[in-house]
Amino acid sequence: MKSAAALTALVALLPAFASAQSQVWGQCGGIGWSGATTCVSGSTCTKLNDYYSQCIPSSQAPTSQPPASTSVPSTPSSTSAPSTPSTTPAAGNPFTGFQVYLSPFYAAEIQSAAAAITDSTQKAKALSVAKVPTFTWFDTVSKVADLGTYLADAQSIQQSTGQKQIVQIVVYDLPDRDCAAKASNGEFSIANNGQANYFNYIDQLVAQIKKFPDVRVVAVIEPDSLANLVTNLNVQKCANAQQTYLACVNYALKQLSAVGVYSYMDAGHAGWLGWSANLSPAAQLFATVFKNAGSSPFIRGLATNVANYNALNAASPDPITQGNSNYDEMHYINAFQPMLKSQGFPAQFIVDQGRSGQQNLRSQWGDWCNIKNAGFGTRPTTNTGSSFIDSIVWVKPGGESDGTSNSSSPRFDSTCSLSDAAQPAPEAGTWFQSYFETLVSKANPPL
Ligand SMILES: *[C@@H]1O[C@H](CO)[C@@H](O)[C@H](O)[C@H]1NC(C)=O
Repeated sequence: MKSAAALTALVALLPAFASAQSQVWGQCGGIGWSGATTCVSGSTCTKLNDYYSQCIPSSQAPTSQPPASTSVPSTPSSTSAPSTPSTTPAAGNPFTGFQVYLSPFYAAEIQSAAAAITDSTQKAKALSVAKVPTFTWFDTVSKVADLGTYLADAQSIQQSTGQKQIVQIVVYDLPDRDCAAKASNGEFSIANNGQANYFNYIDQLVAQIKKFPDVRVVAVIEPDSLANLVTNLNVQKCANAQQTYLACVNYALKQLSAVGVYSYMDAGHAGWLGWSANLSPAAQLFATVFKNAGSSPFIRGLATNVANYNALNAASPDPITQGNSNYDEMHYINAFQPMLKSQGFPAQFIVDQGRSGQQNLRSQWGDWCNIKNAGFGTRPTTNTGSSFIDSIVWVKPGGESDGTSNSSSPRFDSTCSLSDAAQPAPEAGTWFQSYFETLVSKANPPL
């Protein structure tokens, strides 16, 4: 795929057997946690909140436990009937007035990564990344239960601070996923009950979200999928997947809208759908998908540049963009939005800038895999400089690999061994320490 399967890195850091002790910075407790509850020598299991205890090096652990929160949030599923989620969307930008919930999973990845950095300045910069809100990818059914944990945690923060929380998720489990590349093949196949399995995956997400009607959820829907239907129907796997992708995305949008989730469908990036020949067919497809899903105002719009490297506002066009006047995301969105609107889809945008801090790095615009010398980019903000853009966001968790450079791996995609790709690279979604360290040192603005 063009982005990562996520969430696997922490698992990779943990020992393979459940009875083992958690590693330094690993999770060691919390409501819903079923893993190890003791820590390796030299670290102390420290309660951070009801939902998260962590193995903190004994030298850094607080001498007394933080006070338990005074009000224990009600147990979500069994004890109380969930209230009905809002079926009336708020007017305007869904990010406005909300604090973005920080994924404890990504924070744990960052803390492990920082622990491996010796230079104290770099270590401090690395640790600061844990404070930047990043989307959490639900790329397998087995991870869906974690969403309940995060929503409960967000609800608890909301209750104790009075600050409304928004939880950012990526819905990413289509059957025959990543139809034009290989690095992020998914768990479901169309030939083997994929559509029914996908509907069940969406039902499970919805079941978690329904339990926490007070917590706002924003979702990026299926990176690369609809963009592949615009430009890659010449690839057999994409042609075969067309009807299933449409049925699955339709189901996801309808079910998520019904529980008040604000959705942004993935719309590739300037160097993909932003070419003039692609804009109009893309507008037609997205508008049709929007209308077929009932034109819900919860289907807020489109997400661009997910896991990619384009600038929102390039200082000057990268030479690789030659021939495309939409040489950055702002130009792409400004060209695309009126077309969508005239087709009946008044789309708003979010734009991933997580790894866009450095420009002019690629040999070809289509290169997407672990691009060398990339740096973290503009921090998430609703101060976007465009009335079409709700928020700059970090969708791709920087530091997780885009795909392996190991040519013997079944998920090897040759893009990951091009000269502009950092190597050796581990499997998609797993932690890529040296890559993370470069993102930190090349961050722009600096961390
Ligand atoms: C590359 O992938 C093959 C097949 O999965 C595996 O056996 C081998 O250990 C991998 N090599 C490296 C260097 O990771």
